[in-house]
Order: sequence, then structure tokens, then C-alpha cells
Amino acid sequence: MTTGRTAVTIVLAAGEGTRMRSASPKVLHPVAGQSLLSHVLAAVPNSSALAVVVGPDHDAVAREVRRVRPQASMFVQRERLGTAHAVLAARGAIAAGADDLLIAFGDTPLISAATFERLREALKNGAALAVLGFRAADPTGYGRLVVENNHLVAIREQDDAGPAECAISLCNAGVMAFDGSKALAILEKIGNANSKGEYYLTDAVAIVRDLGLEAVVIETSEDEVRGINTKAQLAEAERVMQTRLRKAALDAGVTMIAPETVFLSTDTTFGNDVTIEPFVVIGPGVSIADGAVIHSFTHIVHSSIGRNALVGPFARLRPGTSLGEGAKIGNFVEAKASTLDAGVKVNHLSYIGDTHVGAHANIGAGTITCNYDGYGKHKTEIGTGAFVGTNSSLVAPVKIGSGAYIGSGSVITRDVPDDAMAVERGQQINREGGAKRYRELKTRNKAPKSGS
Ligand code: UD1
Ligand code: CA
Repeated sequence: MTTGRTAVTIVLAAGEGTRMRSASPKVLHPVAGQSLLSHVLAAVPNSSALAVVVGPDHDAVAREVRRVRPQASMFVQRERLGTAHAVLAARGAIAAGADDLLIAFGDTPLISAATFERLREALKNGAALAVLGFRAADPTGYGRLVVENNHLVAIREQDDAGPAECAISLCNAGVMAFDGSKALAILEKIGNANSKGEYYLTDAVAIVRDLGLEAVVIETSEDEVRGINTKAQLAEAERVMQTRLRKAALDAGVTMIAPETVFLSTDTTFGNDVTIEPFVVIGPGVSIADGAVIHSFTHIVHSSIGRNALVGPFARLRPGTSLGEGAKIGNFVEAKASTLDAGVKVNHLSYIGDTHVGAHANIGAGTITCNYDGYGKHKTEIGTGAFVGTNSSLVAPVKIGSGAYIGSGSVITRDVPDDAMAVERGQQINREGGAKRYRELKTRNKAPKSGS
């Protein structure tokens, strides 16, 4: 246990990410629907003070930091002169003098909180520096950990490594822990005499050795520390993250007959006996209560699904949708910013937006809540037990009373009182024999085509 020791964590997020070929900063690219950076920030020990180093003009990155960890302090690295230079941009956080100084990169989203604790444990046992290492299937591009007689003596970056060092598969994951009382002195000794002319954080290892102090490697799996420099690596990280999330969901009792086709978010919550059919995408902010079934080809974000509710196939639940117990959302139904109370049925081909639907109301096929007039959004209220006939348009703002009945094909623009029946459509006219007369007229004027 590392309790009793204080810690400060510096997360480096000032990278340009040019190899992502994207206009947005690298650390804001998503894995499982959340930014790379937010995953790292979530893994930083709660007990640790947090400092994030951002690039100049990276307002979006700063906003993301404030959203995820509002108490974090932020430092701007004005010039991108390397990872050690970036750490020293947060000199103020280091100087505060915690027992442990932890460093993490904003582009390694799969890192876990437990790993930070393992590194801190090594400091507690006397090391001045603990480096997280892993065996890379393909070490190209990573810094290599040079170990002699069981001691970590140096880290060599790819561009500066000779052939023997290039052959080393033990690599630097990028996460490090320094003895807080020595960190600043070590970091200030780092120079930029390398092929890129950058201040490399990795040089800290050789400096620690020169000072007669101990640097150690703590090993972890490659999957935990995949660094994202390219879109291919982003997709790879998504794969690893989804595998984790699916396993956690299965362990929690969710039934998925083809989990490899289901996409989850880190914050998805499940009750007991939830079933998710193949090809479902669940974005951020979704909770699914006991016994609910999500049928195939459904897309859900920022919504809550009540007990025993049924959703899909081919349903789309957009932000702010809340389904009560036993509610049913069928095929080709879209809902947004709407609350559907217990037992509501919207079985086919509908759009329900900015609406409250009272318990056990039945919404017929093709019903549309017309919530937008080109200028603003308006609300629809549908009372308990109301019945909306198929192909009706409810032009908001509008209120359908409890137990009211809307005739099929109606365009409802005025409120409907409780228990009233509203029908809004042209009168039906039946002309006796009219179809027969019509056919006779047509055949008289036009002889049937021959030969076809
Ligand atoms: C770095 C390590 C390498 C390690 C690899 C693991 C160094 C010198 N190299 O290489 O040993 O194997 O990570 O993924 O540390 N950053 C800044 N300011 C800078 C430079 C970088 O904030 O001036 C940030 C980046 O946003 C990124 C992180 O530091 O989050 C790592 O930088 P990156 O350029 O990705 O380093 P790698 O070449 O991957
Ligand atoms: Ca990297």
C-alpha cells in the first residue's frame, strides 16, 4: 500500500499528432466514445494532485481537462521541445513537493489505476525512478529499455539506438514515477544532445544511474500501454478497450450471443438479466435496467432504459431519452429528449422528440412529433393511456389529454382534452359503382396492348 504518501501526476497532452492526419488534437480522438485524454485522466489515482500540460491554443484540450477533472491545474508548453521539456512546463506542480511524481502520456488510453500504484510501490521500496515497461510484438518506434545485470541503465530512443539496442523488445511505455524529492534535480540535468535535438524524458534513467540511485522497470502487458500515434493504432486501442468492456459486461451477467459485434462505453451500466443482441452500438451515458432487451441494429447514447423495456431492432435513442418499466420501442423508431413512462408502446416507424408520454399510451406506426418549426424546439405532452392512431403528426407545442384518442392520419395542432376523440382529415366519400365506371371509361378509350 502506498497510503500515507502524497502524489502529483503530470499528464503530457501537448502533442501535435500530425500522424493522425486530423485537424483535431491527437489526445481528443475517441476510444469507446471518450477522448484518449479522458481515459488517462480517469486512471490517475484519485488521491493524486493532477497537472496537465497542454499545447498553446489548445482550448479544446483545456476544456476537456476541465470537464473530466475540474480540479486539475494546467500548464502550457509553448514550444514542443520534447517530453522532458513538457514535464518541466509543469515545474510549479513538481515544486509543490509531493512524495511521488507520476508522469503519464495523454495518448496511452488503456492505462489502469492499478499500474500507477505498482510504480509507486517501487518508490516506496527505495527506487528513485520506476519506469513502466512492456514486451512489444513490434518494438519499432518505442524507446528500448537497456538492462544490465538486472539493473535498468538507460532508455534508448529508436532514432539513437544501434542495431543491438534495436533488437531489444522490452520497451518504454511512457509512464514513470519519480521520487518527488529528487525529481526536479534529475529533470533539470536532461539535455538535448540526440538526433532530434529534443529534451527526452527517457534520459532520466541514465542520470539516475550516474547519481548512484536506483531505476527499476515494472512490466505490464502491451495492450495496457499502446501509445496512439496513428489512426491504425487508434483502431487497435478501440479493439482492446471493447474486448475489456465486453468481458466486464459478460462477467456482470449481460447476455450477448455475439459480443464481438456489440460496442459499449466505459460508463455503460447494466442491471441483472440484460440481453443485448448482435450489432448494437451503445455510446456514452447509457444505463440499462434489469431484464431489458436491446434488439439488433440499435444505436443508443445518453439514455436510460427501464426495467424489462424492449428496444429495437433498428431503434435510435438520442440524448435525453428515458424509458420506463416495460416500455417498448420498436423498429425504425427514433426518440430524443423524451420521457416515455411505464408500458408505453411506440412499435414502428416513429419520431418522438421533446415529448413526455404518460404510462401505457400507445403511439401508432408512423407518428411524428413535429417539434421543430425552423426556429425553435417545442414540447409535446401525451397523457396516460392515450391512443395515437397511425400516421399522425402532432405539431408542438401540443397536449394530448389522458385517455384521448387520435384518429389515424390526423395533423393535430390544437390541444386535445382528456378522453376526447380527435380526428383531423378530409371526409371519406364512397361513390357506388364508381370504380366499375372508371374501368369501363378507360378500356373504351384504349385497346389493350397486344403481345405482352
Ligand atoms: C515516447 C517515448 C518512448 C516511448 C513512447 C511510448 C520519449 C522521448 N519517448 O515516444 O520512449 O516508448 O513514448 O508511447 O519520451 N508531448 C508533449 N510535448 C512534447 C513532446 C511530447 O506534451 O514536446 C506529449 C505528447 O502529447 C504525447 C507524449 O508526450 O502524449 C509522448 O510524445 P510522443 O511524441 O507521442 O512520443 P513517442 O515518440 O511516442
Ligand atoms: Ca506516442
